[in-house]
Amino acid sequence: MKKFIIAFSLIVAVIQLPAQDHNQANYDESKVPSYTLPDVLKTSSNTEVKDKATWEKVRRPEIIKLFEDNIYGQMPKSYSSIKYSVTNENDTAMNGKAKLKEVLIEVMNNNKPVKINLVLFVPNNVKKPVPAFLLINNRGKENTDPTRVAKSEFWPAEMLIDSGYAIAAIHVADMAPDDKVKYVNGVLQLYPEQLTADNGMKAIGAWAWGASRIMDYFEKDKDIDARKVAIVGHSRGGKASLWAAAQDQRFAICVSNCSGNTGAALARRQFGERINRINASFPHWFNNNYKKFNNNENLLPVDQHMLIALVAPRPVYATNASKDLWADPKGTFLSLKNAEKVYALYGLKSGLPSNPPGINEPITQSPLAYHNREGEHNLTAYDWSNFIKFADYHYKRTK
Ligand code: GCU
Repeated sequence: MKKFIIAFSLIVAVIQLPAQDHNQANYDESKVPSYTLPDVLKTSSNTEVKDKATWEKVRRPEIIKLFEDNIYGQMPKSYSSIKYSVTNENDTAMNGKAKLKEVLIEVMNNNKPVKINLVLFVPNNVKKPVPAFLLINNRGKENTDPTRVAKSEFWPAEMLIDSGYAIAAIHVADMAPDDKVKYVNGVLQLYPEQLTADNGMKAIGAWAWGASRIMDYFEKDKDIDARKVAIVGHSRGGKASLWAAAQDQRFAICVSNCSGNTGAALARRQFGERINRINASFPHWFNNNYKKFNNNENLLPVDQHMLIALVAPRPVYATNASKDLWADPKGTFLSLKNAEKVYALYGLKSGLPSNPPGINEPITQSPLAYHNREGEHNLTAYDWSNFIKFADYHYKRTK
């Protein structure tokens, strides 16, 4: 009986661990430590960056390397082959409103394949090529059902089609299963040297890499305007969408929804989720070097405002949800604010106010956009409707 009670209490303790950790996180603004962010516009040799040429030639590549080496890992730049095959097509999907294309994208390297399944709807009766949204789907595949029997706010494809956009999705498991053991069964088979390097990529890097392979495909698809592709991700997917857009300048717009720690939120605030916790729960997301910063955010040579700055001058939209303090809404807003000076090098003026706007007060007419939606950690129709407004504004589309 005693043994049983001990075993039972242990199980309860294990089950409760994440919840306890959540509760142990700091949610008290007055307990945010004072911190100094690394200067996004000061080079490693201490030179002030005053123009976009120096930013692009010197500082931007430096920052990319810092993120590769310390957080997301290396991004492989080549592969031996890529092949696209349409596995299913329907010209009259969504009651005739859209064309469905399911495309298998097979990439080979190191004599190993990775197979990425793309679900794509293109609006009918709209002049081609059309701009597109691409979601890195980190939830169930039923959220991006090509048959449209299942419909989900997480990927409200009909809404995008009605607004004149193509809407696409890939699933993270095709690139790297979201599992601390199985994540190696995908893109990493093509780049085995990454697995042994302390700055090698893991799952989040692999998801971002996969998004870039969809860009390769979009550049060949005559229905898609490859110069107008918005990459979208929610939460862990939003960490990947930011890294994808930072790396691959072909993405015209970046949307990072509720991405929180190691996404759009500043690490140094130590508010909500922290680096030690994310590395403990998800050791397969970031590179080995990132573990050095557990409980030591101030040692990082970067903070997340610099990741946003890497996307400049392209528009970035980061969001939060009011009840999702784990993802630090204020820290996300401050990250965007601290990226403003890089946009200014391009003569772009941010429309963000000095303090975070109220709940459900989206700021979309700005290269750095933000909202804090009322409610829980999620990606909803409300969020998407604002991403559409944001894209319409930047693409100067009138309907
Ligand atoms: C966990 C994790 C977050 C992540 C989230 C999600 O809460 O701690 O970092 O963003 O899962 O992906 O939904």
